[in-house]
Amino acid sequence: MTAIAKTDMIAVIGAGAMGAGIALVAAQAGHPVLMFDVASGAAGQGRAGILTALDRQVEKGRISKTERDHIAHRLTVAQAIGDLSEVRMVIEAIVENLEIKRQLFSSLEAIVRDDTILATNTSSLSVTAIAAGLRKPERVAGFHFFNPAPVMKLVEVVSGLASAPDVLETLRDTARQWGKEPVSAKSTPGFIVNRVARPFYAEALRLLEENAADVTTIDTVMRECGGFRMGPFELMDLIGHDVNFAVTRSVFDAYFCDPRYRPSLIQQELVAAGWLGRKTGRGFYEYGTAAPKPVSISLASGPKPEFVIVEGDLGPAEALVDAMKGAGLQIERQTGNGFIRVPGATLALSDGRMASERIARGDPDNLILFDLALDYGSTKRIAIAKSNKAPETAITAAVGFFGVLGKTVSLVDDVPGLIVMRTVVMIANEAIEALRQGVACGTDIDRAMILGVNYPRGPLEWAELIGCDLVLKVLDNLQAAYGDDRYRSSLLLRRKSAVLRSWQ
Ligand code: NAI
Repeated sequence: MTAIAKTDMIAVIGAGAMGAGIALVAAQAGHPVLMFDVASGAAGQGRAGILTALDRQVEKGRISKTERDHIAHRLTVAQAIGDLSEVRMVIEAIVENLEIKRQLFSSLEAIVRDDTILATNTSSLSVTAIAAGLRKPERVAGFHFFNPAPVMKLVEVVSGLASAPDVLETLRDTARQWGKEPVSAKSTPGFIVNRVARPFYAEALRLLEENAADVTTIDTVMRECGGFRMGPFELMDLIGHDVNFAVTRSVFDAYFCDPRYRPSLIQQELVAAGWLGRKTGRGFYEYGTAAPKPVSISLASGPKPEFVIVEGDLGPAEALVDAMKGAGLQIERQTGNGFIRVPGATLALSDGRMASERIARGDPDNLILFDLALDYGSTKRIAIAKSNKAPETAITAAVGFFGVLGKTVSLVDDVPGLIVMRTVVMIANEAIEALRQGVACGTDIDRAMILGVNYPRGPLEWAELIGCDLVLKVLDNLQAAYGDDRYRSSLLLRRKSAVLRSWQ
């Protein structure tokens, strides 16, 4: 065990949202903590904010008054940076600016002991670049907490080119001792979470740009069908469009304008308008007591199907068969290509092609595509799309079929990959590519996405459950439809689909 001893002093520089949260985590774990901020009075304010939060915890009975007093006693404000000479570790959480961080680390080297670890909470800058030019760059590593630090379990421990293995191990062990779950990542733009999560926002923005569905429908489908805790627009409104757009831009720039990370004009417009989300009272949604309540449009009900024929294996949607049996539908199974036939409609899971494309290549005119669901058994909503050629009665028949299974239906325009399918395969592809590039191991990537952004399932595990062949097929079809490199698949996915059994 190489965790930093609880008696050792930790310094936190920068007493904003993150610095104050991290100082609380360290003090709660038992360390004496020194808080320092360049802005006059900021460290004192940060400490006062922590004490207020602790008082609330006492009121709610979550901690005792004695515990609160001990934590308060362990938190001290440093008057000058020179006060940090005896600390075991510095955690930097100052403004996200490479030059300012480098200046700070350089001045710290002249103050702290030779065995002091210098950790940075940067969310987007290169740890290698922050450490470059220092006398001892091997003691610098990323220690990336998530907001709010006292609540979020995940910490990304990020290695720069020069970071020493024992420093990284100490950070991981210390994080565990502080009740956190560390994952290891190489210093690459966005590390794990901020990189793999990009398609969650980007695909929603793209769907909106294409008028595939309105904001509320996309959010509702992502929540109720995809199983995500918040819809992408709700989450962007919560994070703030200035912050979310800046992260997207920084990842896009850092990857030399790779189209996979291309920012959205819609979001740029929101930032330009100052409609930054909840904090300004308006983003994609309006906030405040007078704001209209968002309504998601669902289709009216249809008739119960007189028969259901399931042709072939439904792949990830196979659980629908159990749902059909549970609803008392008579099912006939036949060989075929994954169609569900009911009177008036032929239903198929999206494979990344538009219904129109499929009809042009021989699928029936009454084809209705349905979206991916996290769990077809329990989902209460499903998104569907039809081509212009399909009669309205096909929609009614599909709504009747899903209605019998207890599912409400949202209609989406005939776009490649619908909503959940394209978003999930893009997130999975990003995770697979991060794995291929050695940014992190598969277990850590999946854990990071579950703990850092509350995904209902790790993206690599999700890809396995969908089936890597289908993930690849959807991506290839998206790339063909858009002619855009954004949808190019990871070579690791292509190899796995061909011969590999595991991700390694
Ligand atoms: P913030 O703006 O709330 O606080 C930054 C604090 O640093 C301010 O109090 C400022 O006075 C102080 N500061 C600036 N330059 C300084 C210097 N040279 N020396 C000492 N203090 C200085 O910022 P926030 O949100 O707490 O972010 C801090 C760091 O944490 C950034 O690197 C950010 O990218 C990262 N981060 C932020 C997250 C978030 O959700 N806000 C999540 C994870 C990481």
